[in-house]
Amino acid sequence: MTKVLDESLSYFKDKISECIKNNKSISVTTHIDCDGLTSGSIITKALVRAGANCTVRTSKEFSEKVVKSLKTDSRDFHIITDLGGGFATNLDDVIGDDWIVLDHHQIPDKEFDNQNVINSWKYGIDGGNDICAGGMAYLASMALDDKNSDLSAIALIAALGDRQDQGERKSFTGMNFEIANTAKELGLVDIDLDLLLAGRETRPLPDSLAFTAHPFIEGLTWNRGACLSLLNSSGINLKEDGRWRVPSELDENEKRQVIESISKFISDKNSTEMMTELIGYTYTFPKEDRRSFLRDGREFSTMLNSCGRINRSGVGIAICMGDRNKILREGEEILADYRKMIREYMKILANERWRISETETCVMVNGEDIVPEMMTGTISSLIAGAPKNSGKIVILRTKGEENTIKFSSRKSFSCKSKINLSDIMRRGAEKFEGIGGGHDAAAGAKITKDKLDEFLNYLEVNVVKLQSTDNNQ
Ligand code: C5P
Repeated sequence: MTKVLDESLSYFKDKISECIKNNKSISVTTHIDCDGLTSGSIITKALVRAGANCTVRTSKEFSEKVVKSLKTDSRDFHIITDLGGGFATNLDDVIGDDWIVLDHHQIPDKEFDNQNVINSWKYGIDGGNDICAGGMAYLASMALDDKNSDLSAIALIAALGDRQDQGERKSFTGMNFEIANTAKELGLVDIDLDLLLAGRETRPLPDSLAFTAHPFIEGLTWNRGACLSLLNSSGINLKEDGRWRVPSELDENEKRQVIESISKFISDKNSTEMMTELIGYTYTFPKEDRRSFLRDGREFSTMLNSCGRINRSGVGIAICMGDRNKILREGEEILADYRKMIREYMKILANERWRISETETCVMVNGEDIVPEMMTGTISSLIAGAPKNSGKIVILRTKGEENTIKFSSRKSFSCKSKINLSDIMRRGAEKFEGIGGGHDAAAGAKITKDKLDEFLNYLEVNVVKLQSTDNNQ
């Protein structure tokens, strides 16, 4: 049965007001990815504005160990954002009633009745597409004070980071659409149809095309030389007064010329799909400086994902909370380092073919000793974005800390499988004493190394074989 969101939000407000009134300290624990950093920042900013005594920290996953650490830290009340699904009983047992989870990941049914779980699915809101943790934190911040409506801009970045721009032409749907409209009405964001090139506001045109990995264009993605000659042959001016132009400076005619050249270059069975992927709604923050990486919503979200994944979450949180000083240079450097790392990992995975085992419906990739644990999600998304994997399920694994193996699974573009990856990962992990969960189309799991063979067999039976039966029906 679905619950009433307003009641939960007013319960949240009461809990926070009680903390503020009684001078109780609050800790915010959030995930390290873009949705985690934005949701943590939104709620922390709202708490600071409300006069709460609070701190924010990040965690790359949630576990019994994290729950224990909440118990031993000196804070009185705990808000957990973008994490914590499946841990309600454990939280109740260890820290009593002094916690709230704001989240959008799928949760077991038994958590629906726990008041302290404020999760979109409880209210019939699709947490895979229509709202993310940033959106849930935004709703909670609005429950505290409607002056927090300016935080809608950060919630929009959260949704971009979690790839929830799944409506027509990469628009938002459901609650995300409403949040984006609020930001637009407040003049915080411009929403336009445009070419979706990476680094729209910052990258010289050839680099921008070369860095565009969604869609992954074989022959162009990460091949600056090929991009430069393609753009030169399109006839547009690549420089102005000796300076490289960036995609956001192209006029309509020039954009058409670029599109034409790219579609000629692709010309395979996926070209229509891919060209559709290349044009969509852009989200521009007019208050950010021109040519700043914070001006384009998607670039902002990539920077936040990079921060977490290379252990620099603090920089991302500072930027989301409004810091625009020296920290910006750090953000820029993080983005550059992160992109370089991704290129290297993808190159190695492409060259070492023994790491990849493929069927018609699945791609299993062994990233051990190459892909760091924190980057499995990024790399599995990229592999799933490659046109040759269109329609398939991608499962990447790598070594994690303390003798563990981390799995990251994705449904690729146009994958029609009925398999729910969140269920698969959660059930499989539970079976082998690990942790797992996520969404229908993107989920992760972690198990200890000694269970690897059994877990791979489980995936073989429940994903690889099932997928091929699914496909043959
Ligand atoms: O780790 P990865 O990026 O593959 O995870 C995909 C999605 O699944 C993310 O949204 C992540 O937060 C979620 N997840 C989860 N529980 C886990 C592992 C991943 O909810 N144990």
